Amino acid sequence: MKSFKPNKKIKDNAYVGSIEKYNEIYDYSIKNPEGFWAEQAERITWFKKWNKVWNWDFDKADISWYEGAELNACYNCVDRHVDNGYGNEIALIWEGNDSSESKKLSYNNLLTEVQLAANSLKSLGVEKGDRVCIYMQMIPELTIALLACARIGAVHSVVFGAFSPDSLESRINDSECKVLVTQDTGVRGTKNDIPMKANADKAVKNTPSIEKILVVKRTGSPVEMEPSRDVWWHEAIASADSTCEPEIMNAEDPLFILYTSGSTGKPKGVMHTTGGYMVYTSTTHHYIFDYKPGEIYWCTADIGWITGHSYIVYGPMANRAVTVMFEGVPNYPDYGRFWEIVEKHKVNIFYTAPTALRALMKEGDDWPKKYNLESLRLLGTVGEPIKEPEWMWYHSIIGNQKCPIVDTWWQTETGGIMITPLPGVTETKPGSATRPFFGVLPELVDDDGNVLEGNNVEGNLVMQRPWPSIMRTVYGDHKRFFDTYFSRFPGKYFSGDGCKRDENGYYWITGRVDDVIIVSGHNLGTAEIEGSIGGHPDVAEAAVVGYPHDIKGNSIYAFVTLRTGREITENTRTEIAKIVRADIGPHATPEKIQFTEGLPKTRSGKIMRRILRNIASDNIDDLGDISTLADPSVVESLVNNRI
Ligand code: WT7
Repeated sequence: MKSFKPNKKIKDNAYVGSIEKYNEIYDYSIKNPEGFWAEQAERITWFKKWNKVWNWDFDKADISWYEGAELNACYNCVDRHVDNGYGNEIALIWEGNDSSESKKLSYNNLLTEVQLAANSLKSLGVEKGDRVCIYMQMIPELTIALLACARIGAVHSVVFGAFSPDSLESRINDSECKVLVTQDTGVRGTKNDIPMKANADKAVKNTPSIEKILVVKRTGSPVEMEPSRDVWWHEAIASADSTCEPEIMNAEDPLFILYTSGSTGKPKGVMHTTGGYMVYTSTTHHYIFDYKPGEIYWCTADIGWITGHSYIVYGPMANRAVTVMFEGVPNYPDYGRFWEIVEKHKVNIFYTAPTALRALMKEGDDWPKKYNLESLRLLGTVGEPIKEPEWMWYHSIIGNQKCPIVDTWWQTETGGIMITPLPGVTETKPGSATRPFFGVLPELVDDDGNVLEGNNVEGNLVMQRPWPSIMRTVYGDHKRFFDTYFSRFPGKYFSGDGCKRDENGYYWITGRVDDVIIVSGHNLGTAEIEGSIGGHPDVAEAAVVGYPHDIKGNSIYAFVTLRTGREITENTRTEIAKIVRADIGPHATPEKIQFTEGLPKTRSGKIMRRILRNIASDNIDDLGDISTLADPSVVESLVNNRI
């Protein structure tokens, strides 16, 4: 097993810097969590301090942090840096889809823009506690919109810009958003006219709660504006007041909702609150990226996902970082785009997804070698397990063997990084997220909930206690919050991931053990896709599983039975794919669709996905026990007709 010791230069300059110091801080954080989290909370400027650091009861899914404290997230990300004399420093470097377009915003600029946007939202009727849906591509106004919501105490719900109008509609309705912020059209890779406003128009046909749509002009492409409802961003800010005092928020007031897929059809509105989230994202960003003032930090994620919320916007900006935001994609205009940006902006810290690395690695070393990557000091990955080949490529070709790699495990639900190496501290092993962050107490349990003690064990990954940025509820459905995370193993938070602990106590995430599939780092629920396929008039039933894919990590395989008498035509496959694209988005489209007479079901009617997973993955020699199936003969035909 390969392993990599921290290099001396990084170690000498790191905040933690030795495994002894990590152990010491970690032990303290576990023995005295309230003391530890009270000290870390000093990173944040509070209007009023807390009465109690934490209160929790996993049996009721009841968690609060910094109860009684008051703060404002936007004030912490923007105003206080200006107040402290850093207003001229760069906050945001925006790089457009084409290299000819980029923009820099100082903290002063950001404060101006955010106040104008905040007042614009207010003038559209947004008040503290109202939900604002944000459906945009990666343009500066997206970051500004998040911060503007936080400033006035509105709860943002960002919907990833590739979601279909139907997905946007259901998310708006679930949290009853009052205002929708979008843009005319979007630019991404070879696409230069992504119909954002038109999609929004389709969605809001069935969203009674939406009163206004605020539209950023990105491309200038003509879009329809409904005069009584739609307002141009540039016009709104032109007439907005330039000062907007940050709202005083309670630590447990909601900061945002972000939808994630679950085991049942409907996506869950993961709700995060203000105080704990700000403390945890800034603390993790500080230690894990070992961020030093002035460094250029680039997380390539989209703000439509939690990674962007926590590690493009809130964590870095609370730490007064220079954060890079990129509108485009890694392969446009060519496979050198990421490295061109690293060279252009002299990026020091680079955080991306394994799927991007696999795609780039496949195109050869000449692309990165064309550019000067000397500025890079630290590399990170997130979103799915990274395998040794791409880890080694990242290490040697991108990091020139001198950059530590932090493989960070976490979830939309956790709000921030939970298991990760620390630069200059942890000896890394390719593919392992290594050790828990401070205050994080993971445990492995078997399917009956027995704790697996010691090393060299494998089981379900749970957390024994809360950390400050754990989600607080599923919006509008607290029972679902309890059922999903705290009922499977009573008294513990269940992550839904399988994991092993090796001989050194290192954690290795083995992937989801529930009905969630991670495709290119995107979290997709099988039930949601099955429901969508079931919307095709000829379909009787569908079962969806993941199978390993070279670039995407996993890809989607759908087993579909048609209604009696319906025929498979040339178009059935394309129609099904089209329905899924329309219902959910292109990232959810099944790569393979196999039509079958029957699905492998138990006598009680439960589909045995394990068998389907094996067939989809071509593991047909050992399908496992099929004796409990109602009709074992379906298996043979499934195997013979596999794609
Ligand atoms: C799931 C959460 C965390 C932000 C992006 C994804 C998988 C995440 C890793 C990693 C192995 C990982 C897990 C997790 N995952 N990071 N470093 N190694 N697996 O957030 O969409 O909520 O997905 O992503 O399966 O449960 P998400």
